[in-house]
Amino acid sequence: MDLKNKEYIDKIKSLAKQKNAVIFAHYYTRPEIQEIADFIGDSLALAQQATRVQADILVMCGVHFMGETMKILCPDKKVLIPDMNAGCSLADSCKAEDLKKFIEQQKINSLSSGEGRGEVLVVSYVNTSADVKALTDVVVTSSNAKKIVDQLPKDAKIIFGPDHNLGSYINSVTGRNMLLWNGACHVHSRFSLEALLQLKAAYPGVEVLAHPECKAPVLAQSDVIGSTKALLEYTIQSPAKRFIIATESGILFEMQRACPDKEFIPVPPEVTEGVGCSCNECEYMRMNTLEKVYNCLLNENPEMQVPQEIAEKAISSIQRMLAMS
Ligand code: 13P
Ligand code: SF4
Repeated sequence: MDLKNKEYIDKIKSLAKQKNAVIFAHYYTRPEIQEIADFIGDSLALAQQATRVQADILVMCGVHFMGETMKILCPDKKVLIPDMNAGCSLADSCKAEDLKKFIEQQKINSLSSGEGRGEVLVVSYVNTSADVKALTDVVVTSSNAKKIVDQLPKDAKIIFGPDHNLGSYINSVTGRNMLLWNGACHVHSRFSLEALLQLKAAYPGVEVLAHPECKAPVLAQSDVIGSTKALLEYTIQSPAKRFIIATESGILFEMQRACPDKEFIPVPPEVTEGVGCSCNECEYMRMNTLEKVYNCLLNENPEMQVPQEIAEKAISSIQRMLAMS
């Protein structure tokens, strides 16, 4: 670790102590961010943990929607995010105004077909804006989506968004026929099937672990499909010494830290413009740097704000998720 990083780490730790701040990091952030975090987790664990800590300031090192979720759940706390521009291609693929029109249309279809009473349930992945959560009946994460969809009434007409790959996967494991929004994560949808097949041929018998945001052909070649936390836990409890991993490569840091004697082989993304790269990174997660964490703690800015009327509508869909998880 270079001196600059070490200096930032020392400064961040003392500022956090002085200001009674707790630092959260998603598994996809840079290794040095995961090292300074008080809590590392997947989207569900971070949201749950935020409601339990005693702190004045919460620093969310992840992406914008994670900061929003934290602020909605902890309105009395100051929620800082190191870079307001750390967005999410998946959340961006579902604008609230478009979803609203889609919901209205499905209600009309349900009435006119005589199949329902014009009622639809809206299930949204946590990777959505607060505005979308405000239109949602229940939020899910990749950790709890199956468990929650299983609890919904069997005859309910369900809209699931925005991730089409996750929605198809949940339809396949629950036997539901949810209507799917056509969104995707640019990171998970670019894993190369060809490279995965080559890795499987090069490492016969080695299990493939994939996040459900990956495309169906990649999931069809995978042995274990789960959230970042589920995949991490699998590598810890499995007696195997080698795994092929198809999710954002930041998780490899935590896997290697938890299992220093095991080997993790990342599936590369499809080659773009003739340039190949062996890891598949979310550039939004990488926008969290030590310098930005330090500056945001020092200046208590950027601070996440969610308009009260949106937060009031969004919180029930998040709380329903926490109750059903
Ligand atoms: P998890 O819910 O597994 O943390 O995933 C969040 C995410 O952004 C996946 O791309
Ligand atoms: Fe969003 Fe994909 Fe990045 Fe996750 S990996 S934060 S879904 S863009």
